[in-house]
Amino acid sequence: MNKTLSRTEIRHQIRTARRDLSGLQQKQDADSLFSRLIKHSRVQQAGKISVTLAYDGEIDTLRFVEWCWQKNKKIYLPVIHPFNKGHLLFLEYTTKTEMVLNQHGIFEPKLNQLDACPMKELDLIFTPLVAFDTQGNRIGMGGGYYDRMLAPWFKDKTGPYPIGLAHDCQQVQQLPVEEWDVPLPEIITPSMHFCW
Ligand SMILES: Nc1ncnc2c1ncn2[C@@H]1O[C@H](COP(=O)(O)OP(=O)(O)OP(=O)(O)O)[C@@H](O)[C@H]1O
Ligand SMILES: [Mg+2]
Repeated sequence: MNKTLSRTEIRHQIRTARRDLSGLQQKQDADSLFSRLIKHSRVQQAGKISVTLAYDGEIDTLRFVEWCWQKNKKIYLPVIHPFNKGHLLFLEYTTKTEMVLNQHGIFEPKLNQLDACPMKELDLIFTPLVAFDTQGNRIGMGGGYYDRMLAPWFKDKTGPYPIGLAHDCQQVQQLPVEEWDVPLPEIITPSMHFCW
């Protein structure tokens, strides 16, 4: 029977596929992604970039982060906002950053107001996702953090430009979309660069 999968089922299926990638595949994917990212004109022009560190089989961005540091580009990691429920803060990430586990079991920089960057000052937001489709729709882990954050961008296209990062195996034909889901204008995988 050809049943349409729910968002929960898609999340489960893709997260499992991602976690099942071998160490060698993860390394090759990270290297291919790195080669694409450093050639991207928006990356070359950016001074402040938000990225996430790999979690739960996500594609590894560490080589890219280190390249950015060498090029004097500042890297910011999202941190769960301590008071504003469902929202994120961006904290600078350097070799000296102290990391702590957040409520979802993900490492994030220890909260320090001095390291926070107002979102509008970022040039690029590399956006994590669980699954994406052929139209640029994305679903994440289900928190709505990125949908909330990108809602103003979706409305008037001002502010930091979002680019999704994923393994190739995270692509599906068509996602069930909700009214609040923000589609991405670009998604980069090890073997594809999608622009919509
Ligand atoms: N702009 C928004 N304002 C208020 N609530 C929102 C907004 N966007 C999403 N949400 C809420 O967040 C919840 C989770 O949304 P969704 O399932 O789309 O998460 P997701 O896309 O997987 O997560 P993320 O955006 O963190 O990657 C939903 O209940 C939705 O109502
Ligand atoms: Mg969503």
